[in-house]
Amino acid sequence: MRHLLTPQDFTVEETRQLFLLADDLEANPGKYAHICDGRKLATLFFEPSTRTRLSHETAMLNLGGSVIGFPSGNVSSATKGETVADTIRVISCFADIAAIRHPKEGAATVAAHYSTIPIINAGDGGHQHPTQTLLDMQTIRKLKGGLTGMTIGLCGDLKFGRTVHSLVESMSRYSGIRFVFISPDELKMPDYVTDLLRDRHIPYTEVTRLEDAIPELDILYMTRVQRERFFNEEDYIRLKDFYVLDEKKLSRAKSDCYVLHPLPRVNEIAPEVDDDPRAAYFLQVRYGVFVREAVILELLGLAGDYQF
Ligand code: NCD
Repeated sequence: MRHLLTPQDFTVEETRQLFLLADDLEANPGKYAHICDGRKLATLFFEPSTRTRLSHETAMLNLGGSVIGFPSGNVSSATKGETVADTIRVISCFADIAAIRHPKEGAATVAAHYSTIPIINAGDGGHQHPTQTLLDMQTIRKLKGGLTGMTIGLCGDLKFGRTVHSLVESMSRYSGIRFVFISPDELKMPDYVTDLLRDRHIPYTEVTRLEDAIPELDILYMTRVQRERFFNEEDYIRLKDFYVLDEKKLSRAKSDCYVLHPLPRVNEIAPEVDDDPRAAYFLQVRYGVFVREAVILELLGLAGDYQF
C-alpha cells in the first residue's frame, strides 16, 4: 500500500506520470467521472483549511466517489483524548483513502503506520505539504513549459512554512534549479532543507531584501507568516508585514516571472497584483483539483486502468 507523506514518495518519473494524468483529467473529465464509484475519501482535518480540504473533496466527487470527514479537531474525539493512531484505525474501517491535516509534525507518518488505507499528508505542522507541492509544480510546469533550468525565489516565512519545505525538496531533484531564499533572519529556511541542498550540490542564496532578489527570478513564491506556529504574539506582529509585494516591486521582475502563493494570503501580496498577468495563485487552486484527482487514483491503484 502506498501513502503520500512527502513529495519524494513519488520518484521524478512517477511525478511526471502524475502530471500527465492530471493533464488528462483536466482535458477529459467525463472519462473519469465514475472511476471511484462506491469508494470513499475521509478528510481528517485537525487544523483549519479552506482549499486543501475542499479541493480533496471536490477531487473525489469529480471521480464519482463520496466523502466523509471532519473540518476541525474540536468536533472529533481528539478533544476526548483519542490518539491519531486510534482515529486512523477507526477511519480505516469506514473509508478507502484518507487525507489528514494535523498541527504536529509527523502526524501523517504516525497515521500511515497504523492505517490499512492509503494516507495523504495534507499538512503536518511546519513540516511538509506534498499535495500543495505537486500542484505548485504542475502550475510551474504549465506556465514555464517544464521544471528545469530556473531560478526560484521563496519569500516570507521559510522557517514554519511547510509548503516551501516540500517545494524545495522536490524541485531540487530537477536539473539547473537555483533557489533564492528571501526572509528575515528569524524566519530562515531550516537546516535540514539547506543541508539537503548542499548534499545535492544545488546552488542557493539567502537574502533579506525582496527588491534586490526580484530581477533574477523566474518564479517568485510568496508565503504567509505562520502566526499559529509562533511562541509569542509580539514576534508575529513584528514580522507579519516584513514583505508586501506590490506592483512597484513587481515592476523590477522579468516579464515571465510568475508569482505563486499557496494561499491564504494576508498582507504579503497587495490586491493590485491580482490583475497582473504574472499572478498565478488562483490558477494554482484550479490545478490543485486535477492533481489531487491524480493522487487519489494513483494511491488507490486505479491510475493504470486508464490510458492517457
Ligand atoms: C498552506 C498550508 O496550510 O500550509 N495553505 C494551503 O494548504 N494552501 C499555507 C498557509 O497556510 O500559509
